[in-house]
Amino acid sequence: MIEDEIRMLRNNHRAVILAHNYCRGEVQDIADFTGDSLELARKATEIDADVIVFCGVKFMAETAKILNPTKKVLLPDPTAGCPMAEMITAAQLRELKAKYPGAKAVCYVNSTAEVKAECDICVTSGNAEKVMATLKGEEIIFVPDMHLGGYVSKKLGESYRCWKGFCPIHAKLELCDIRNGRLAAGMDAPVLVHPECDKPVREAADHCLSTGGMCKFVKESSAGRFVIGTEAGILHRLQKENPEKEFFPIGDLECVDMKKITLEKLRDSLEKMQYEVEVPEEVAMKARTAIERMLSIG
Ligand code: 13P
Ligand code: SF4
Repeated sequence: MIEDEIRMLRNNHRAVILAHNYCRGEVQDIADFTGDSLELARKATEIDADVIVFCGVKFMAETAKILNPTKKVLLPDPTAGCPMAEMITAAQLRELKAKYPGAKAVCYVNSTAEVKAECDICVTSGNAEKVMATLKGEEIIFVPDMHLGGYVSKKLGESYRCWKGFCPIHAKLELCDIRNGRLAAGMDAPVLVHPECDKPVREAADHCLSTGGMCKFVKESSAGRFVIGTEAGILHRLQKENPEKEFFPIGDLECVDMKKITLEKLRDSLEKMQYEVEVPEEVAMKARTAIERMLSIG
């Protein structure tokens, strides 16, 4: 069985397998730890292994490498990227910083290592509000996600200079999907959406949460039915951890990049020690400061 091969290779190489909540169910099942971007970044700092195999997309594996420069970090499919992270380059961010020299530059973790290296601090969807609360009153450049930036600035009563980046997957969600979700699940079913969704969708939902936040919310809620407005991979974990509860996904959201990591690619990655993620040390050093500042806050 391929799962046995993966376990054997993992043990032989003293490797640990991390998987994002959007990964294929079978990949989540074999991983040592499954979580959201914040949980995975934290986990990466606690790992006692020689090799980290990151099942997710490139910016996540880069974050693990930045936090563990001496470890081998592998991404089983080198083409698994996040289109939103590619929506701003370091050069574009430098131009923006030159235009607003007094501003603090903040990046969503869904960004390249080079962009992180240009930033004062990083945030994830799981801690953005808490981190940004420490910067209240400051002039802020927020990249690349205009929706997360818009969500947090509104919550904190602030106004940010947001880059116009977005997640093409969550952007598909529309108001009518929320309505259809409520009709299917019942009017008392909580509607959970990701902060990467567009403003009207966020405002029509009951809760705006990171994927880890959704898992926690569902576990602690007394409700029996939930409308889920994020990438479909999360349903595997929600159903597995809450077999008695019912989930109503909306919008048919699937991130092709997150689905690129298959059991076969994971096995090949462990067998051939491929594809190693490298971040030049001068970039990693600056990006590490932005990520560590975030982790020290929440
Ligand atoms: P989370 O940090 O909430 O898991 O989100 C990551 C992501 O890429 C959402 O599209
Ligand atoms: Fe990027 Fe969106 Fe895929 Fe998340 S779901 S990895 S933000 S494209």
